[in-house]
Amino acid sequence: MDLKMLLSDQGRADPFSIYAHLHSSGQAVALDATKDGYAAAVYGYEAVSRVLRDPRFRQLGGEYMEANHSGWRRHRALVVLRDSMFFSDGPVHDRMRQRIGRYFTPRRMAILEPSVAELTKVTLERLATLPEPIDFMGEFAFLLPSSVMAEVLGVPQEDLGWFRPRVLAIGAILELDGATWRNMVRANTAADELTEYFTALVAARRAEPRDDLISILSDVDDAELIPNLITTFNAGFVTTTHLLGNGLMLLLDDPSLRGKTITDEILRYEPPVQIVLRYAIEDCAVDGVPVQAGQAILVMLGAANRDPKRFPDPDRFDPARPDNVSLSFSLGPHYCLGAALSKLEAEIAFPALFERFPGLALAQRPPEAKPLILRGHDQLLVTVR
Ligand code: HEM
Repeated sequence: MDLKMLLSDQGRADPFSIYAHLHSSGQAVALDATKDGYAAAVYGYEAVSRVLRDPRFRQLGGEYMEANHSGWRRHRALVVLRDSMFFSDGPVHDRMRQRIGRYFTPRRMAILEPSVAELTKVTLERLATLPEPIDFMGEFAFLLPSSVMAEVLGVPQEDLGWFRPRVLAIGAILELDGATWRNMVRANTAADELTEYFTALVAARRAEPRDDLISILSDVDDAELIPNLITTFNAGFVTTTHLLGNGLMLLLDDPSLRGKTITDEILRYEPPVQIVLRYAIEDCAVDGVPVQAGQAILVMLGAANRDPKRFPDPDRFDPARPDNVSLSFSLGPHYCLGAALSKLEAEIAFPALFERFPGLALAQRPPEAKPLILRGHDQLLVTVR
């Protein structure tokens, strides 16, 4: 595969035909490491699952950055990301994950369910008051998961508007060719502002604890806590935002899907995270493709979800698929901590949305989604009446 093809306008608009072509042979393909920056792209379901569990493949954390991008520490956004569990591995990762994981229990999900239902209702009632056309992405798909995450962390709801541009600025540098100078400047400013915000909020919760994630973690020191709060908060809604946006498009295209349980199939078919990155800590091979120590690879979750060996007729949207376990939440030590929460949100939101607004329709067809890592629409203009 030529990475340029995937990054072209056509590849971005329809990566799925590239995935289909890749699946005609093998599970991984060599890329030009010098030109592309990645030694291989792994796309077979089985190979992707294996790599995600293989301790020889790590996140592009601090050690990788030291070796490949001297001066990276000048970028506060990169430092915040690398100081979090997302980009850590080994015992440091496991410790951080265990601490944050204290919160994400099945019991907590049961406690959150009525709040998610209530926040859904409030967000829908607010939609009814807005002039049309309404941007579904901003006014619902973003607002609901961010309100839920605000509840989880203990962020005051009235601060959410302030967060969106900052969260999007950090998300922009995670895109495959997103670390442009302009994006970095914005992301660094956002990282500074978010650090300042959460430092103050943590201090407030230490003084007066509540029943929220920040209060539960108040014994963790700031150097570890703040980067994890920023990244968990971000992870909690950019992704779920796209789950809701991508799901809405599918439900509008085929009204017979309404009322069915379709969350797992939306996740398989249009995963909000299409690609994750890893690098090898020793020389090895994936499905016969050599990867040298220090080289990075693309781990293509979205392509693995369309592997015909795992999902027959993979380009068909079929909520009745048996054993529908996609790789959309990753696998192994970095398996998404919020998988249950985001599924809960989608399962509550879609039925409530169409019950409240049976006539919901697109006001105009949006352009195809462009991002290849955090994939979804920036804007979806709809009418609800
Ligand atoms: C549809 C929604 C979501 C999707 C598709 C998604 C996807 C992912 C993926 C693919 C990863 C692993 C990245 C990797 O292996 O490199 C991940 C990790 C993570 N996600 Fe999610 N996520 C979603 C929602 C959430 C929510 C709601 C939360 C928080 C409440 C959350 C918190 C996290 C955290 C903390 C990690 C890092 C875990 C670790 O590194 O050990 N995510 N997510």
